[in-house]
Amino acid sequence: MNTKLLTQNDIAEAAAILKNGGLVGIPTETVYGLGANGLDPEAVGRIFAAKGRPQDNPLILHVPSADWLSRWCVDVPDRAYRLAERFWPGPLTMILRRGPEVPDVVTAGLDTVGMRCPDHPVTRAIIQAAGVPVAAPSGNTSGRPSPTTAAHMLEDMDGKIDAIVDGGPCAVGVESAIVDLTVDPPRLLRPGGVTLEQLREVLGQVEVDAAVVRPMGAGERPRAPGMKYRHYAPRAPVTVVTGEPENSAAYIAAHANEGDGVICFDEFAGGFPGKSVERLGPAQDKGEQARRVFDALRAFDSTAVPAIWAQCPDPVGIGLAVANRLNKAAGFHIVEA
Ligand code: TXA
Ligand code: MG
Repeated sequence: MNTKLLTQNDIAEAAAILKNGGLVGIPTETVYGLGANGLDPEAVGRIFAAKGRPQDNPLILHVPSADWLSRWCVDVPDRAYRLAERFWPGPLTMILRRGPEVPDVVTAGLDTVGMRCPDHPVTRAIIQAAGVPVAAPSGNTSGRPSPTTAAHMLEDMDGKIDAIVDGGPCAVGVESAIVDLTVDPPRLLRPGGVTLEQLREVLGQVEVDAAVVRPMGAGERPRAPGMKYRHYAPRAPVTVVTGEPENSAAYIAAHANEGDGVICFDEFAGGFPGKSVERLGPAQDKGEQARRVFDALRAFDSTAVPAIWAQCPDPVGIGLAVANRLNKAAGFHIVEA
């Protein structure tokens, strides 16, 4: 299959591919998604094949506005509309009770479904034009870092999908926050672009699922099935180093070997001679770190570094999402400097 590169002007063509059961890479504010008609089980099945994704890992449905919620979900609680009012379009996915028309293959048989309204005008226009909710996981091959540019998505999906719409680099850079509204109190299943602090402003109490902060033991089942997989992983083993930036930089300088990879805050980039360095952004700029974290991990995939060391922000604001992605890439191999 020849994967066509579309532009922001090709909304009608992208929508037509979706309506005909095809697969389209779509830009969102978080990461690029691999979209299919969410009501067409065969099309959704092709997503799993293109990504090599385990069948037990459900997909998020993307909609252009909150008034689609009642079409695909049942018992939508008032707090879902309050969240949508505040954060949609934006990097927040809500887990709700699924309606009868959502195919099993989307939800991996669960009785809930993830719903998200992405903050990218081109993708919202494509969904509107297609007239169906669009099922879309991140557009990477399963297990690889999520793509934040069309070029990165093409690296993984060239020849496997019909088209990719180039909507520019992603403004947030890490995936949406996922909050489960079918439990009380609501539970954060994946930290993301909307922060835990912001969710608590609207919802009051929000619990953090264990899978966010530690690896799942054998037999343990995280509420977001995808959180059990070693994600975002570059080919080389990763060690995350926490603590004050000066301390973590010193720890890495002392422990990394010649030729290793280092992901560090910009201020420390000159401190690792003989190492292969990727910058994460300024130590105090967590938004920039979120935009760069997947690109930094992905950059090492095309090199032969034997090991990767990463500085890590404190888990405050979007720092919780950056730390979670680094920790998952490291299989939660974390040292405190
Ligand atoms: O920002 C995002 O959310 C991106 C863009 C493309 O929208 N999408 C994304 O999808 O990250 P994906 O498939 O890579 O990650 C979705 C996560 C998985 O961990 C999956 O297990 C979880 O959401 N999930 C989906 N439906 C769920 C459900 N009904 N209950 C619990 N977890 C669910
Ligand atoms: Mg993903």
